Amino acid sequence: MEQSKLLELLSSMSLEEKIAQLLQLTGNFFSTELNELVTGPMQEMGIDQTILYNTGSILNTLGAENLIKLQDQYLSKNRHKIPMLFMADVIYGFRTVFPIPLGLGCTWNPELAELSAKVAAKEAAVSGLHITFSPMVDLVRDPRWGRVMETTGEDSYLNSEFARALVRGFQGDLLNPQETLGACVKHFAGYGGAEGGRDYNTFEVSERTLREQYLPAYKAAIDEGCTMVMTSFNTVDSIPATGNKWLMRDLLRNEWGFKGVVISDHSAVSELIAHGYAQDGKEAAEKAIKAGVDIEMCTPHYIKNLKTLVEEKAVDVALVDEAVLRILELKNKLDLFENPYRGASAEKEKEVMLCEAHLKATREIASKSLVLLKNDNNVLPLSKKIKKVAIVGPYADEKAALGFWAVFGDRNATVTVKEGIVNKIGENQVVAYKGCEAVEDLGPILLELGRLMGIDNSKPTSDTSVEIAKSVKAAQDADVIILALGEHMAQSGEGSSRTKITLSETQLKLVDEIAALKKPTVALLFNGRPLEVKPILDKVDALLEVWYPGTEGGNAIADVLFGDVNPSGRLSMSFPHSVGQIPVHYNHFNTGRPIIDPNNVSRFHSHYSDAPNTALYPFGYGLSYTSFEYTDFQLNKASMTAKDEIEASVMITNTGSYVGEETVQFYLRDITGSVVRPVKELKGFEKVVLNPGESKKVTFKISEPILRFYTADMKYESEAGRFKVLVGRNSSDVIEAEFIYYETQN
Ligand code: GLC
Repeated sequence: MEQSKLLELLSSMSLEEKIAQLLQLTGNFFSTELNELVTGPMQEMGIDQTILYNTGSILNTLGAENLIKLQDQYLSKNRHKIPMLFMADVIYGFRTVFPIPLGLGCTWNPELAELSAKVAAKEAAVSGLHITFSPMVDLVRDPRWGRVMETTGEDSYLNSEFARALVRGFQGDLLNPQETLGACVKHFAGYGGAEGGRDYNTFEVSERTLREQYLPAYKAAIDEGCTMVMTSFNTVDSIPATGNKWLMRDLLRNEWGFKGVVISDHSAVSELIAHGYAQDGKEAAEKAIKAGVDIEMCTPHYIKNLKTLVEEKAVDVALVDEAVLRILELKNKLDLFENPYRGASAEKEKEVMLCEAHLKATREIASKSLVLLKNDNNVLPLSKKIKKVAIVGPYADEKAALGFWAVFGDRNATVTVKEGIVNKIGENQVVAYKGCEAVEDLGPILLELGRLMGIDNSKPTSDTSVEIAKSVKAAQDADVIILALGEHMAQSGEGSSRTKITLSETQLKLVDEIAALKKPTVALLFNGRPLEVKPILDKVDALLEVWYPGTEGGNAIADVLFGDVNPSGRLSMSFPHSVGQIPVHYNHFNTGRPIIDPNNVSRFHSHYSDAPNTALYPFGYGLSYTSFEYTDFQLNKASMTAKDEIEASVMITNTGSYVGEETVQFYLRDITGSVVRPVKELKGFEKVVLNPGESKKVTFKISEPILRFYTADMKYESEAGRFKVLVGRNSSDVIEAEFIYYETQN
C-alpha cells in the first residue's frame, strides 16, 4: 500500500480505533467463546468489542490454521480491514531448537547464528507468525542473572557481530513471507546489567559505560535493519527504560535514526507505577507514549487513558498518530494488507518442522557451541571400540534439555546423551542411570513449570540415595563414565536469579561416589550460566560445557566425545572461581593498585585474600583435541597516524594430530587516555581450520576508527598515545606488542 493510502487510512480511523492499535493482547482473547471473555479478562482490562477488534497485535499464539481462522474472524469485524500482527518469542529456534544463545555465542561464528535464525524463521513463518521477539542482545557480566542464557555474552564487539547476524537470519529481505520474520531487538537498554544479577533489579552505570559496553549490540541490530525494539524493565539513569524519553526519542530515534516500532516488555508500562515513576495508570500511559512506546504489551493503560489524555490536551494526538502510523507501516512492510496470512501454511508446516536439513543444521551448530574446559590425559576423544560406557546423572537420558526459552520446541524430538551415544556406538556398550535429579527438591520448580509451560508436575518418588547407589554399581565395570550434570532448565531463563551457582548437593555426592571408582570420567555440564565448577574439577578427567544444546544435543555431544567433531567452542562469558568474585569479566579497568605479579601480592594491591582476581576460565577460553602454536607475531610498523594503519600478523600452526579450528583473537589496549580504558578490548577475531602440521598467517588491521572511545568530554574519538596489541587463543593467553598512535604526522 502506498504511504499516501496509509495516511488516508490513519485519518479515517476514530481515536478509539487508533488507540486499540497500540494494544497487544494474548491470543486467548480471540480463541475462547466471547461471552466467557466478556465477564473475564476483557472486563478486567476494560476491553469492549471495538477495542478487541481493533487490537493491533497478539503474542505467542501460533499454528497456520489457527492464525488464519483468527485473522479471518478479526478482519470480519474490523471496520478498516487492518490485519493483526502475530508476534512470538522465537529466541533460538521454533520447533527445531538450537543451542541457547550463550552457547551460540561460544561458536564465535555469526554465520552459524544467521543459519539458526533462518531455520527458525522458516518454521515460525509457515506457522503464521510475523515477528519474533529476538535477538536478545543484553550484555552480561553476572552469571547470577538467569537470563545470561539468552544472550551471546560479555563482550559488546562479539554481541554486535551476533546481533547483526541474527537480524539477517530472521529477516533476510523480508520479501519471502514463508521464510522470514520481522526481528525485535531487546531489551532496550541495559537489562543484563541488573545489580546483583537479580532479575528486574536496578541498572545504574555512567552514560559512558552505557554507550561503550551496553548499547553497541542494540545499535548493530538496528543498523542491520531490525524492524522493532522492545523496551526493558530496568531503569536507565534512574528513569525506567519504558518511560525514558532520552533513551527512546533522543538516542534511539533522533541520534540513531530508528524509524520502526517500539514495544514495551510485558507489563512494563504498568511497572512505571511500582518504579515510582508514575502515580497511576493514567500517568504511566502519558509518560510511556511521550517517551516513545508505540505498543503496550498486555496491560490496558493506553486503552483506558489515552483518549482522556488527548481530550484533556495532556497528550498531543500527534503522538498517537505517529505511533499508529509506525504500526501501519510495519504491517505494510510485511505486506499484511495484501496478504493478511503472510506465510501461514498448514501444508508447509508439516513439511518444514524438524525436517532433515533443520536437524542437520542444529546438530552442526550444537557441536560447535560445546566448550572443552578440561581434558587431562587426553581422555577425550573416546574410542568407538570402547566396551562399556556408563552415563550417569540427571541429564543422562533427559529430554527436557532445551532451555527455558525453547517455548515452541518439541521436547519429544530431543536427542538425549544416551540416545546420541547409542546412535554412535550401539546400545550394547551403553548403560544410563539418572542417579539423582538436577535439584534437591523438584517440587516448587515443577509446580512453577506446570503453571508456565504445562510440564508434568508430578514429583519423582525415587529415593536419591538408592538411585545413586544403583548408578555407581552400574558404572563399576565401565571403561569410561560420562557424568551428565547441570542445572534444571527452569533454574535459568527469566525470573531465575541465583546467589549460589554450584551444582546441587546430590549431584556433588554422585560425583564423589563416581570419582571413588577411579575410572576415566568425563563430565558434561547442562546449564544456562557459568557455574562454579571447582567442586568437581579435580574429580573428573574431562569437562565439556554443553549448555542446553538443542534438539540434536545428544548427537552433537556424541560427535565431540568420539572425535567426529574436534571441539572448537570458546567461552563468550567468563567462568568465575567463585560467586564471590562476581562481576568478573575480561575487559576490566586496571585500577591504581593492580596485581603485577600474582606470586607477589601484598595486602595493598587490589585483590581478594581468598581468591584470585582472574576468572577460572576466561572469556575466549576453550580447548581442542589438537594444539596450536602462535609464532612470528609482529607489527609491520611501530607507529601510525589517522591516515594510515598498522598490520599485526601472527603465524598459527597446528602442532597436534587432529584437524582443528582455532579462533585467533585480537585485542587492543589504550594504555593512557583522558579517561581510564579497559586492560583489553576485543577488536576482531579470525577462525582458522588447520590440518596437523599446517600453518597459516593471520593478519589484523589497526586503523584509527577502532581506537575510538567516549573521551572525557564524551566525544567518540581516538586519542594519541601508546597502545598494546594483544593476540591469542583467549583473552588471558595472549602475546603483546606496542605501537604509538600520533594524531597527526609527526
Ligand atoms: C517477557 C520477557 C521478554 C518476552 C516478553 C513476551 O517478560 O522479558 O523477553 O519477549 O515477555 O513474552
